[in-house]
Amino acid sequence: METWSYQNPVKIIFGCGSRKFLIEAVQDLKVLIVSSKRGREFIENDPYLVQITKNSTWIDSITSNPSLDNIQKVINTNNYQDIEIIVAFGGGSSIDSAKAIAAGLSIFSSNHKLNDLIKNPKKFLNKPLLPIIAIPTTSGTGSEVTPFATLWDTENEKKLSLNHHKIYPKTAIVDPELTYDLPYELTFSTGLDALNQALESIWNKNKSPLSSLTASKSVKKALTALSSLKKDLKDIEARKLISEASLLSGISISQTRTAICHSISYPLTVKYGIPHGIACAFPMLAVSKKVQQYKEIYFSDVINEMKLGSSESLILQIEEIVNIFKIKDYVVKKLLNKNELYSLIDDMITPGRSDNFILPVNQNLIKDILQESLI
Ligand SMILES: [Fe+2]
Repeated sequence: METWSYQNPVKIIFGCGSRKFLIEAVQDLKVLIVSSKRGREFIENDPYLVQITKNSTWIDSITSNPSLDNIQKVINTNNYQDIEIIVAFGGGSSIDSAKAIAAGLSIFSSNHKLNDLIKNPKKFLNKPLLPIIAIPTTSGTGSEVTPFATLWDTENEKKLSLNHHKIYPKTAIVDPELTYDLPYELTFSTGLDALNQALESIWNKNKSPLSSLTASKSVKKALTALSSLKKDLKDIEARKLISEASLLSGISISQTRTAICHSISYPLTVKYGIPHGIACAFPMLAVSKKVQQYKEIYFSDVINEMKLGSSESLILQIEEIVNIFKIKDYVVKKLLNKNELYSLIDDMITPGRSDNFILPVNQNLIKDILQESLI
């Protein structure tokens, strides 16, 4: 038997209405709230959440795909000396920004910058960080339970990843009610990210019996929820399911990290503005078929969890999801011509992501996956 380990320090509070626990958690503390403008509006109009705003400082300028420069500018305003706790409210971008802000503030007095941290987090993250309470308002990234933050170098069109155990949030409050009014595209792009992350955790060299279990449960819930939400965006049971799927996918990748689909997705997001979940879902079916062909055993737990007779049934369900959301059409519409994608192959091999995949990743494999995804 192989040796494996598991560590995730985040306290999780899950359930409809669970956001009311925030009030107690931040009582008498000086709070910094990190959100988008829309997130701020939500907080200010919510009978529970508005109570934390009385004595709080705001950073409400977070946008999707936050850039390193913008987050550094926010840190440089140096308005945060008396802050005791950060509340990150929003999708993955707000939570990732909060992690980067907490990390950046911890080195502010040393004159080092976020960029230094990203290059060498072990060297610079040597002080305690402000604790973060993460409250996701989308069901997708699972960032509330991971030690990763994604920022973007917009000038050089590169994805940057801060990765260190100190940026784990202290607490994740996952309240499905916060997602009930999410619009169509955001529901599906984030839900597809949850499904994809769970699968990435399964076809992963760092997989353990425990991560495989959480990922398999996540795949099952995500597949059910996505097809129900496609029929009815207001299906509350499906909203709860996709919230659970997202949380479980975050727990899974907190142990394994993501793999080849995420690696392929980054240039699609940075060059064409394709939402993260859709970019990750684009190669998902082709990758599933490769795993089925060469390493089918990796699907055993998910096949058992879903009580499927074979990996073929799983592939069919993944295919159905990719088809009903017209993932290929969405990506192709953003391109001038399909061949453009092949010029990005080198950029699609991201160290720390593609090398977690269970098959050797090289240009030929990526080309093959792109070809199959474009059929
Ligand atoms: Fe993701």
